[in-house]
Amino acid sequence: MIVCESIDALRRERKLRTGTFGFVPTMGYLHEGHLELVRRANAENDHVVVSIFVNPTQFGPNEDFNAYPRDLERDLAMLSAFPDVVVFTPSVQEMYPQGFQTYVNVEAVSQGLEGARRPGHFRGVATVVAKLFNIVQPQRAYFGQKDAQQLAVIRQMVRDLAFPIEIVGVPTVRASDGLALSSRNSYLTPEERAAAPVLYRALCAAQARYESGERDAETLRETMRAVLAAEPLAHVDYVSVADAETLCECEGAISGAVLLSMAVRIGRARLIDNITLGING
Ligand code: PAJ
Repeated sequence: MIVCESIDALRRERKLRTGTFGFVPTMGYLHEGHLELVRRANAENDHVVVSIFVNPTQFGPNEDFNAYPRDLERDLAMLSAFPDVVVFTPSVQEMYPQGFQTYVNVEAVSQGLEGARRPGHFRGVATVVAKLFNIVQPQRAYFGQKDAQQLAVIRQMVRDLAFPIEIVGVPTVRASDGLALSSRNSYLTPEERAAAPVLYRALCAAQARYESGERDAETLRETMRAVLAAEPLAHVDYVSVADAETLCECEGAISGAVLLSMAVRIGRARLIDNITLGING
């Protein structure tokens, strides 16, 4: 395992190697979800680069940039299971030097859901990912479906700006009780952690209604709200049934692929989760 802290050092390592590169961008505090992306990248490419960078531009002024969990030593120990991996750990100064003023704005697909509640979030994500793509120059990059809108934003950016990169979406890795793994789960007290699987239960309840023939978008949203309402520690930010491609909210009868998603506050943590329905018609 090689660790590069600067853009120059990463570019030197990149040049020493031939063959394909798979890239996994992360903000660290790694868990099995991240490692699943690394495994996929490792299986499908000659080399793997993992970046660990808590990106300040994707956090709002009242969000958790300072509190975001960090443990580089532990992250590196987890990545040492992949002997060939190159880890990129730039500083904020390295990524956003004095005078930085160029941003990437992906428009329509950034606007609903998370984008509506977190103004500027996807501008920060698209900007840092575009810069990381230019530094790492991978053939493939791996993103989790856990962050479905982020995946859609990155796919749109890559199409629009002609990055020669294949974007690979990886299914959400969950704990045995259904909770989607997330670095932010570390904010939960034991009692809150016990309540947190309610997000996945709500998604599954709507999926069951869908599978028994329900197609009304509002009824599916209501089904999710009812499950969430039964958990006193869960405070709903939003519940959505949206077109899986455009991410526009569905009204009336749904058809084709739809994204069921939600953001829910439990204690200090704002948790998100989603599933896609109707991929096969
Ligand atoms: P982070 O939250 O660290 O997530 C890094 C990658 O891991 C993302 O693609 C995310 O979707 C994926 N991931 C997280 N939890 C997962 C899970 N339970 N199952 C599968 N994949 C999961 O997302 C970011 O960082 C940042 O926005 C980033 C893209 C690095 C830009 O700063």
